Amino acid sequence: MSAVYEKLQSCYESIRKKTDFVPQVALILGSGLGDFAEDIQISQTVSYEEIQGFPVSTVPGHKGRFVFGYVGQVPVVIMQGRVHYYEGYSITDVVLPVRLMKLLGAQILFLTNAAGGINFDFEAGDFMMITDQISDFVPSPLIGENLEELGERFPDMSQIYDKDLQEILRRTAKSLGIRLQEGVYLQLTGPNFESPAEVRMCRILGADAVGMSTACEAVAANHCGMKICGISCITNLGCGMSEQSLSHQEVQEIADKKAPDFKRLLTEAIQEMGKNKTDKGE
Ligand code: HPA
Repeated sequence: MSAVYEKLQSCYESIRKKTDFVPQVALILGSGLGDFAEDIQISQTVSYEEIQGFPVSTVPGHKGRFVFGYVGQVPVVIMQGRVHYYEGYSITDVVLPVRLMKLLGAQILFLTNAAGGINFDFEAGDFMMITDQISDFVPSPLIGENLEELGERFPDMSQIYDKDLQEILRRTAKSLGIRLQEGVYLQLTGPNFESPAEVRMCRILGADAVGMSTACEAVAANHCGMKICGISCITNLGCGMSEQSLSHQEVQEIADKKAPDFKRLLTEAIQEMGKNKTDKGE
């Protein structure tokens, strides 16, 4: 067994000693968006520190725990705070939580983040549904011995973000009167924000939003067969696109301001995603 899978197994066993909860949907909450976890019907929480070998986030505004509970009738596990590559963890550690949530039973991965807008049609405060991604600026989490227990060596990436889940998000946003942009998310390592020239590069490469997370998680989740969807909260326009300079505080303030709409969208969409499963009789 590879060292990566061994660590995953030991984290799994460590969590299973605390809870036998089986989630259907796994949700990762990005910067400033973590409050959502407090509004659901919580069954149990497990802080990352309690899980042996689990990478613990050091970013201000990221709490660092799993919340198990229900959104409506749908059993969910929520990551209140994620770990980022720029914190110095290996890329396999960064995606360990995603794989762990899959082992716990989650079939759907709902990714959220704060991101900079690259597309000139976007405004600070917009939500963007991720339709595709560019992950090539961070190492692939699949480098190294393939984890055969999880997926194949050369996984297809032609549709990382699930079409049905995208349709649910579109429908839900429309019914709630929430503007939902769509586009390609590009992950850079961070932790520095981009220079204006880098923002122009992102645009030339076809990105609509740029951030420091998410794409590597989606690669790992796709590898292990999860259905994926994602929403970026566009907290600012990319550097050089407006007069303003960027700060983490500004990112958090805009995310906080958008939190109520974000919560409504998540609550409704997750319930629809749960229903979808029952409808298909899976
Ligand atoms: N760049 C990278 N990551 C971000 C940004 C940005 O402009 N805003 C929020 N997260």
